[in-house]
Amino acid sequence: MTTKQIVLAGRPKGKPVVENFETKNIELPQIKEEDILLEAMYFSVDPYMRGRMNDAKSYAPPFEVGKPITGGVVAKVIKSNVANFKENDMVTGNLPWQQHCIATAPGLLKIDTNIAPASYYLGILGMPGLTAYFGLIHIGKPKSGETVAVSGAAGAVGIVVGQIAKLNGCRVVGIAGSDEKVRLLKKEFGFDEVINYKTTTDIKKAIAEFCPDAVDIHYDNVGGRNFRCLISNINFNARIVLWSDCFIQLADQILMGPVYNPCY
Ligand SMILES: NC(=O)c1ccc[n+]([C@@H]2O[C@H](COP(=O)([O-])OP(=O)(O)OC[C@H]3O[C@@H](n4cnc5c(N)ncnc54)[C@H](OP(=O)(O)O)[C@@H]3O)[C@@H](O)[C@H]2O)c1
Repeated sequence: MTTKQIVLAGRPKGKPVVENFETKNIELPQIKEEDILLEAMYFSVDPYMRGRMNDAKSYAPPFEVGKPITGGVVAKVIKSNVANFKENDMVTGNLPWQQHCIATAPGLLKIDTNIAPASYYLGILGMPGLTAYFGLIHIGKPKSGETVAVSGAAGAVGIVVGQIAKLNGCRVVGIAGSDEKVRLLKKEFGFDEVINYKTTTDIKKAIAEFCPDAVDIHYDNVGGRNFRCLISNINFNARIVLWSDCFIQLADQILMGPVYNPCY
């Protein structure tokens, strides 16, 4: 059959643009024993994917120019030569950006769309939700009454961190980049306070005002200036949840002063 795929046409400089991608029509071979034919339903676009567009060593290998982008995908089984996977089953896995693809069972996870809509398995029940949950619960170890600060608060991870922190009885202060995000996080998602880092001139002071007992857990999604402002308001025995790019940035800041984060 003929299907469509999206390949990396060239490596972006700064923000990716449409010209960095190309749509191709390709022919899929017949499926063999142990193969499963899938039709993609949802594709996840995550920040780590920008890093993979560079030709640089990282925790995930770079995408190859001319080859399809790969990432988290929810797909439907169209045809299967594997006993455990039946036609119309829904699955998730790390798959190419293709309308249809041929996969094998290892790495595919069957999902139950009676529990939640299929797209949730790339969000709250997928990598961003699990990143928020395990980072906050296992590293942050929140206790009722503690103050949790979260940057990138309106992002896929941050928005979940804030809600789980509230469920654990914490005071939650977010940092986000627009008044609309501030409004939504407070009104719809239960954050106690949210700072708009683009319009607040003294972020350090704003954090001190909103966190009068200082910050017990900081969940850092972005690094940079917001991170430095938070560090000045951190409590004794606090826990800081950092992702790898934030950690590299932190180390660079301590050693060499502010740096440019190529992820953003
Ligand atoms: N998604 C995952 O499953 C996953 C897994 C492991 C680790 N991580 C890491 O977790 C972090 C957040 O991921 P995510 O999926 O939540 O990302 P996301 O949905 O893209 O949200 C990140 C947010 O960061 C803010 N931001 C961007 N540039 C900024 C800057 N220069 N200064 C301050 N804020 C900035 C943006 O919000 P504003 O418009 O409010 O600025 C953006 O919404 C990333 O570091 C990612 O690598 C994610």
